[in-house]
Amino acid sequence: MRHDRDEILTEMGLGPIWRLRERPTAVDERVAEVPAAAESATARAIHADSAPPTRARSASSAESVANAVADSGREALISRMDWRALKEAVSGCRACGLHAGRNRTVFGVGDERAQWMLVGEAPGAEEDRLGEPFVGQAGKLLDGMLAAIGLKRGENVYIANVLKCRPPGNRNPEPGEVARCAPHLARQVELVGPKLILGLGRFAARTLLDSDASIASLRGKVHRYAGVPLVITYHPAYLLRNLPDKAKTWEDLLLARRALGESGAS
Ligand code: URA
Repeated sequence: MRHDRDEILTEMGLGPIWRLRERPTAVDERVAEVPAAAESATARAIHADSAPPTRARSASSAESVANAVADSGREALISRMDWRALKEAVSGCRACGLHAGRNRTVFGVGDERAQWMLVGEAPGAEEDRLGEPFVGQAGKLLDGMLAAIGLKRGENVYIANVLKCRPPGNRNPEPGEVARCAPHLARQVELVGPKLILGLGRFAARTLLDSDASIASLRGKVHRYAGVPLVITYHPAYLLRNLPDKAKTWEDLLLARRALGESGAS
């Protein structure tokens, strides 16, 4: 059954008052066609959550419910994309404000069936210009880190970021931006099917583990993301400013290599 946003709001006794703040994207336009099951579950949840809806319900709660409906549909859609559809969805994405300032989206790079998957934070200026992750100074260090354990960008390694668009002035990603972009990363992980994920820095750790814990406390253990062994280490940009911590990252790389070996991969 097809429910569009206005229909859901009308059923709640609220529509059609609230409008999306952003123009719908190609993906958003297709959301309504997708997860019939997910949508009806969401609609059931909406109806189950309270007394009969009235117009007295506050605007902000109506808007957040409507946004949650749109988000769950969008996530379900992304979770079924193949590589081509996912790349198209990312390159045309307008789901958060970062689209307005980008030159290029930065999807990810490397072997799409790699055993190693590296997850960074967000593109910087060079990445935004070239459309490839980790091509600036931090990227050079990352390539050196990979070489230290006998790996090379593109060969059995896939590299992606939490955000696919550059935050202005390289500011930290905002929670809303991470939330809207995380389904893209989740689908990349599913499609690559890595044997080991290396999370680089605070935002990767936060996104993959849904935890605000410090890098220091998350290092040295093998976590799991969607069942895949996950090792957290410092972000290369941090290491450029804190050279002594390179030794800790070396330990983390060795831990990651052991974890991958233990997973039965070669
Ligand atoms: N930092 C990141 O996290 N990702 C990049 O692609 C570049 C710098």
